[in-house]
Amino acid sequence: MKILVTGGAGFIGGNFVHYMMKEHKEYEILCVDALTYAGNMETLAPVMDNSKFKFVKADIADRAAIYKIFQEEKPDIVVNFAAESHVDRSIEEPELFLRTNVMGTQVMLDACRKYGIQRYHQVSTDEVYGDLPLDRTDLFFTEETPIQTSSPYSASKASADLLVQAYYRTFKVPVTISRCSNNYGPYHFPEKLIPLMIANALNGKSLPVYGRGENVRDWLYVEDHCRAIDMIVHKGTVGEVYNIGGHNERTNLEVVKTIIRELGVSEELITYVTDRAGHDLRYAIDPTKIHHELGWLPTTTFDNGIKKTITWYLDNREWWENIISGEYQDYYEKMYHNR
Ligand code: NAD
Ligand code: TYD
Repeated sequence: MKILVTGGAGFIGGNFVHYMMKEHKEYEILCVDALTYAGNMETLAPVMDNSKFKFVKADIADRAAIYKIFQEEKPDIVVNFAAESHVDRSIEEPELFLRTNVMGTQVMLDACRKYGIQRYHQVSTDEVYGDLPLDRTDLFFTEETPIQTSSPYSASKASADLLVQAYYRTFKVPVTISRCSNNYGPYHFPEKLIPLMIANALNGKSLPVYGRGENVRDWLYVEDHCRAIDMIVHKGTVGEVYNIGGHNERTNLEVVKTIIRELGVSEELITYVTDRAGHDLRYAIDPTKIHHELGWLPTTTFDNGIKKTITWYLDNREWWENIISGEYQDYYEKMYHNR
């Protein structure tokens, strides 16, 4: 069995590569990644010498490059993680999101159609459902919730979802889609809430909370997401969408205060900054379908997962210090200076 993993030098894709190589030692894993600012070969360093692993640098929107890879490598399963993934960047530069997330997905689907595969899995997001009100804690996203997006990021991911469904219906490409809530864990790029707050707190920098910090996210430890995708590609029903999430809702302020407590720094580091434009209020997943059909349940609670994550960032300072000492500084200045 050969699995082509796109975006494997990123956060979730990287964790998925490590997970699959541990769980399926007989599988060959081929990672295709364009190595954008978010891709990091350090994340793949632990598997680079493994004979079952191969890395190819390529852009999923580059049709010729992707076709060549399919022709030469003949993957059985494709899991598409590659994407521009940060909402704030999508507000600054929407077009890049359309190119990678929409056109890139289309090239991947065309390649699957042309060369034939057993399964194409699209790693989507709960953000395609838009948001839920803060005062209706009885409401959750199900797979039937209408798609109604807020940001250029979520609009591009929703477009990709629809293309995947169209290729299933029209061309019979054997697809599955998963829509997961916010992930956290090792190798998370420090532009996102949790790793940004850990890095800033460790460096004694201010902790920029958007608006009043009341927005709610449904946090899932990344390994639980990887296990869910493993189950879907092996046991999931072709043509189906699966929500992934584990009822771990927290306000942003609760998350930041937890990190502050764990690291023993002062709450005075919290700085309330201008809110994100179009900021989604609340995400919350109903995971009944994947639980009933595939038996998946998350195994890591938020309290335990955040401890493991903080320990990882303490033990792997070089990984994230290398990132924040580079072009990240220009990004940080642009996004947070005078905010
Ligand atoms: P990430 O930004 O950490 O990693 C993205 C990876 O894709 C990087 O390695 C980057 O180099 C690569 N990439 C970007 N453009 C590419 C292109 N044109 N061709 C090839 N590779 C390219 O993202 P992530 O947080 O790991 O997210 C992975 C996937 O999971 C995305 O599709 C995202 O929409 C989805 N998702 C993320 C979350 C989350 O909480 N992070 C939640 C649900 C779904
Ligand atoms: P983020 O990690 O960017 O994920 P997403 O927007 O895809 O959910 O942000 C998570 C939440 O944290 C979101 O409500 C925005 C908020 N946030 C801050 O308050 N400050 C920050 O510096 C960042 C990056 C995010």
